[in-house]
Amino acid sequence: MSDHSAAPTADTADTADRHAQAELQLGTAGVAHRAVGGGEAAAANLAWWDADADDYQATHGEFLGDTDFVWCPEGVREEDVRLLGDVRGRRVLEVGCGQAACSRWLSSAGAEAVATDLSGGMLRHAREGNERTGVAVPLVQANAEYLPFASGSFDAACSAFGALPFVPSLATVFAEVHRLLRPGSPWVFSVTHPMRWIFPDDPGPLGLTVAQPYFDRTPYVEVDDDGEATYVEYHRTLGDYVRALAAGGFALEDLLEPEWPEGHTRTWGQWSPLRGKLFPGTAIFRTRRS
Ligand SMILES: C[S@@+](CC[C@H](N)C(=O)[O-])C[C@H]1O[C@@H](n2cnc3c(N)ncnc32)[C@H](O)[C@@H]1O
Repeated sequence: MSDHSAAPTADTADTADRHAQAELQLGTAGVAHRAVGGGEAAAANLAWWDADADDYQATHGEFLGDTDFVWCPEGVREEDVRLLGDVRGRRVLEVGCGQAACSRWLSSAGAEAVATDLSGGMLRHAREGNERTGVAVPLVQANAEYLPFASGSFDAACSAFGALPFVPSLATVFAEVHRLLRPGSPWVFSVTHPMRWIFPDDPGPLGLTVAQPYFDRTPYVEVDDDGEATYVEYHRTLGDYVRALAAGGFALEDLLEPEWPEGHTRTWGQWSPLRGKLFPGTAIFRTRRS
């Protein structure tokens, strides 16, 4: 659940402040829209998530919990929806785990969870979470494009806003997950709902006016003074996801578009009650390895 704000306004001042520390550290000077290859994206996002790890955890750690599986800012919990099915005795891979609260929930639900993330800074919080809770899931630093595990060694895979928005090719990650899963295993992941791309990243009224085309896949890039990327996020349409899943050997079983819950007042970056009541903020793909 990235809470990046492309165009800070009065309504996003808190969000902009939240990123000030990381932006200062990385020398972020502006925004560009341009093509970005895998190497540049991985380097930028590794640096970004390392720099932002402490602030991300300070801002969202309480909402996400220490041993809880929250799929999205709308607060959908795996405990309630069981999108991964019965995980008892199953070996479950988490991709882009952040502080690994989801993996600890999976472990306490009887799974043998393995948590992976690109960022050592995020994994430091995962290790602290392990120590705090006594639920010690294995933590592996790895890019989702190259996952260091044996083929056919997992019974399920999941990702809550981890990795997929930050890699140039869905096909590469889907191929890795397909390789690792045994046939018939679920692969469930949440991402920002693609329709949000057309609006400014603003939780207030300014986030209700279309600002860019849905069909423009040019990545959102933050750059330093030399034009080097300091943060990269990729957009795919719903059709892009569906085609990449089919081509990657996954059957799409459901696409959840969680509604904003009554009484839920928490704003998370661009996710807010105002926008959540009007259009979806999250897409959760429930798929199965064919
Ligand atoms: C928005 S956070 C989500 C973390 C956690 N799932 C949560 O719900 O808070 C995105 C995570 O994806 C990780 N990430 C970004 N690019 C990645 C990549 N290429 N491979 C693996 N993880 C990546 C980041 O380090 C970060 O921990």
